[in-house]
Amino acid sequence: MFGPLVLAYSAAQLLLGSPVVAVENGLARTPPLGWNSWNWFACDISEETILSAARAIVSTGLKDAGYEYVIIDDCWHAPARDPITKEPLANPVTFPSGIKSVADKVHDLGLKFGIYSDAGSETCARRFGSLGYEQIDAKTYASWGVDYLKYDNCNNEGFSGNESISSWRFSQMAKALNETGRPIVYAMCNWGEDHSWTWAGKLANSWRMSGDISDMFTGYSKDCPCTSLLNCTTFGHHCSATRIIDWTAYMVNYAGPGGWNDLDMLEVGNGNMTNDEYVTHFSMWALLKSPLILGNYLTKMTPDILDIITNDAIIAVNQDPLGASIKRSWKRLLEEGDVQMWTGPLADGSTVVALMNTSPDPQTATISFKDIPSKSPNPETTTFRAFDLWQRSSELTRSGTRWGLDIGLFQGQISDITLKRHQTKVFMLVPQVRTTLRIQEDAE
Ligand code: GLA
Repeated sequence: MFGPLVLAYSAAQLLLGSPVVAVENGLARTPPLGWNSWNWFACDISEETILSAARAIVSTGLKDAGYEYVIIDDCWHAPARDPITKEPLANPVTFPSGIKSVADKVHDLGLKFGIYSDAGSETCARRFGSLGYEQIDAKTYASWGVDYLKYDNCNNEGFSGNESISSWRFSQMAKALNETGRPIVYAMCNWGEDHSWTWAGKLANSWRMSGDISDMFTGYSKDCPCTSLLNCTTFGHHCSATRIIDWTAYMVNYAGPGGWNDLDMLEVGNGNMTNDEYVTHFSMWALLKSPLILGNYLTKMTPDILDIITNDAIIAVNQDPLGASIKRSWKRLLEEGDVQMWTGPLADGSTVVALMNTSPDPQTATISFKDIPSKSPNPETTTFRAFDLWQRSSELTRSGTRWGLDIGLFQGQISDITLKRHQTKVFMLVPQVRTTLRIQEDAE
């Protein structure tokens, strides 16, 4: 059944070599923000699951905080495509009104709508995939009003193993989406296979670069084996948040406007981490410029979880127009875990700094300004005003954003910052001259 398709693909691959299909869709100039059904619901989804999440995005204020894509993951499918037209069909029991009707209702709420498919014969949950059906699927998604496609990598019939063949397979959907003329964010999900972060930017608006996340803060699972670029062929699943963060250190330079490292959907609120751990998870995803795609049960969310995912200062860093990921400045290894400092520039010339404690004990750390990538001629002698982005304050706004608590002026360093077990603190350092300008701008 699959034979002719395999032959056709092999022939095309020989003819085409390694094509470059630039995504060039003008989308995702900042990382997409939204919600996806998989992490909490897996295959247990229906129209009501999706629409109640969409309504909760509006009623809880998540929409106002910037979350806009409502994405149905795997398992929306009918048992088979339309036997005559080969168009994809929705499961008539769980999605009786059809996908277009769900998309319309999501749009009516002022939100955008996303769907899932797979660059293989079947999805990871063994529903029909899009390999060989890219054009008809893209066309159908466009007619349904799809704004975002998550495109997975299971059951790829062996069309992987090197950049050329994987990028060719994923480029088929890139091309098909572009041909529809509808703006559709293309989120590649091949888990980093064939070092996709080095080439996916030519095709897609984001690319998964790790095995599947689990709702756990730390720990090594043999199912998530990659620790270095050299030993990594299988990406797996059951990856803890800190393992994904460490892994991302290899690929921070590839993130930028229009194309982002996707660290996987958030687990914040799913119950297996402490609030400090979820703060670390959310902060690092945001500063590493991952799409922030929530994966929790929105209608049952507690206020402290809502508080974490609506921290407007952290979201503003994620959405900063410069689009530069933080990079690791140092890592202090401890008997168990470590303390790490990461820094990155923001469009207005200020610097964001994250101090992360993955150890089970409280730690102290110092931010030395010599380690920060400031545009100031000499960060060591510049005075910076520092804001703590996890201490909320209504003072000092820039473009309507609350930037956390002003903790004062510093030169050379901020010393002896205390970090609780598994806590991350995030600071914004503003060269003093800019602070003056900003206060003036805000007063006008
Ligand atoms: C893969 C993806 C997950 C999810 C499942 C669905 O494992 O990486 O994010 O989409 O498939 O089956």
